[in-house]
Amino acid sequence: MTTLKVQHLTGGYRDVTVLRDIDLTVSAGELCVVLGRNGAGKTSLMAGIAGLLPTVRSGCVLIDDRDVTTMPAHRRAAAGIALVQEGKRVFRGRTVEENLLLGTYSAKGWSLRSRDRKEALATAYQRFPILHDKRSDKAGGLSGGQQQMLAIAQALAARPQILLLDEPSAGLAPAIQAEVFATATTLRDDGLAVIVVEQLVDSALEVADSVVVLDSGRVVSSGPPDKYRNSTLLQEVYLGRSREE
Ligand SMILES: Nc1ncnc2c1ncn2[C@@H]1O[C@H](COP(=O)(O)OP(=O)(O)O)[C@@H](O)[C@H]1O
Ligand SMILES: [Mg+2]
Repeated sequence: MTTLKVQHLTGGYRDVTVLRDIDLTVSAGELCVVLGRNGAGKTSLMAGIAGLLPTVRSGCVLIDDRDVTTMPAHRRAAAGIALVQEGKRVFRGRTVEENLLLGTYSAKGWSLRSRDRKEALATAYQRFPILHDKRSDKAGGLSGGQQQMLAIAQALAARPQILLLDEPSAGLAPAIQAEVFATATTLRDDGLAVIVVEQLVDSALEVADSVVVLDSGRVVSSGPPDKYRNSTLLQEVYLGRSREE
């Protein structure tokens, strides 16, 4: 069973440190929600896990007990990590199918074998039938929700064990947001380790198995979702009264 562990991760953008001593663990079949206000470091943490953070000063990222901290992003992808970046949807000028196929390659030469690639496509179409219907359409013509589904399907095409979704519901209509959450829980139930960065706190708490709250690049609180329901903890963080004493 795959477990992703982030231990004491400190790093950022060259000499600007934005993550400090971050700990986070998520296992196969679990959904971890990362909360925190704008600028808290959520996207940087996803980048740190996926191998896209320019500087890691100390700490490590482990997949099971394999240390991937010094691996570049394409090797982490091969090791099982997939990231759907914040606000990044899809290649709009490419067809749906081309977008899915791109998910099975990486710029640095890693790719699925052709039989696995066909299977990855079939799985994506099974999971998202609308993408099958629209497979020859340009991705730019899809609705926002469909583009987000395509972005998730593209990430899944690489057959990750660990899926990172950075604000997947942002900019989508409420009904579509609910669909995105349903997709995240289905993937969790299918055995992926899932991390979702979210602004929609209530919806996030409903689907979370565990919660990590960031503020100013630190984990200021973590625990099961029950801890945060009917509690002022999150309000304090979001209103900026959670600075460590
Ligand atoms: N490329 C970058 N270079 C320098 N600082 C950055 C860069 N990207 C983000 N930051 C800074 O890192 C901090 C955390 O940002 P980010 O991880 O995007 O937070 P969040 O996703 O929680 O809104 C912010 O202070 C932001 O200004
Ligand atoms: Mg962000």
